[in-house]
Amino acid sequence: MTIQTLTPTPAHHTYQLLDSGNGQRLEQFGNRRIIRPDTTCLWRPRNTTHWNSVDLRCVKTQQGGSFAWQEQRAGAQAWTYTYHHPKLQKLDFALRSSEHSKNIGIFPEQAAHWDWLTTKLVGATQAPSILNLFAYTGGATLVAAAAGAQVCHVDASKSTVAWARENAVANGLADAPIRWIVEDCVTFIEREIKRGKKYDGIIMDPPAFGRDPRGKPFSFEDSFHQLMAGAQALLAPEGFLLLNVYSVPLYATHIANVVGDYFPHHTLEAGELHLVAKDGRTVPCNLFVRATY
Ligand SMILES: C[S@@+](CC[C@H](N)C(=O)[O-])C[C@H]1O[C@@H](n2cnc3c(N)ncnc32)[C@H](O)[C@@H]1O
Repeated sequence: MTIQTLTPTPAHHTYQLLDSGNGQRLEQFGNRRIIRPDTTCLWRPRNTTHWNSVDLRCVKTQQGGSFAWQEQRAGAQAWTYTYHHPKLQKLDFALRSSEHSKNIGIFPEQAAHWDWLTTKLVGATQAPSILNLFAYTGGATLVAAAAGAQVCHVDASKSTVAWARENAVANGLADAPIRWIVEDCVTFIEREIKRGKKYDGIIMDPPAFGRDPRGKPFSFEDSFHQLMAGAQALLAPEGFLLLNVYSVPLYATHIANVVGDYFPHHTLEAGELHLVAKDGRTVPCNLFVRATY
């Protein structure tokens, strides 16, 4: 298994990493330029022009490691990001700054996974069934649905699932075969196993730490084996797994070794998702493992 580096195709989305450094990222999402904290950006910034002309700035608050947004230009709080793969309809995602979070509704590095997913799903003879776990605002869900799949979208946050549904409606996918589930992913997996369900593809993006809908803490480290055992039970024999992981003190090979325990007959690809600035400097964002048959 070789370790790969994946980056989104610039022409497929309205995002650009403009610069990074001093613990921050300077990014362009659609028509908004923003600054957000990213403690992994330990180096010095290079772009001398754009840092002083942004629409929104997210800062760490003094108390409890939370975040706050400062509007630098009136009316800059809500806007749109577009993903447009040539084989799919254009997909628009609503972005917004929310209190206490530096996340705005899209993780742009995930566009590299969506390119792979599109290639995998478009043109399938029968609509593939996809389980999207920790599905957030529906990036992979909408890509899979637009590519002709039936999707089961699961996330613990009611408001985030509502946001994902809004994105589906805005893209004419209100009647697409998508099941919207607000549930703890581990609980949902157990229930689906009891029902004897099988999926042609499982996508999961567990956070290092999260909460179930009842507020019970979730940790990737504690749940990794349970998630993999669940995926093993729910995946159709020739199905694929796309696992994305972030903010964990592990290398991609660590994750791939565990995936290999559960999918010994699948081919594994593993690596890092990167965002690349115009000058070529990259910000590593996530680890991934893809298991295909
Ligand atoms: C950062 S997101 C994943 C990003 C997403 N894959 C994308 O590309 O847009 C992590 C998600 O996991 C959800 N989450 C956290 N703990 C959970 C749990 N125990 N069960 C279900 N979802 C959970 C959060 O609500 C959040 O939406």
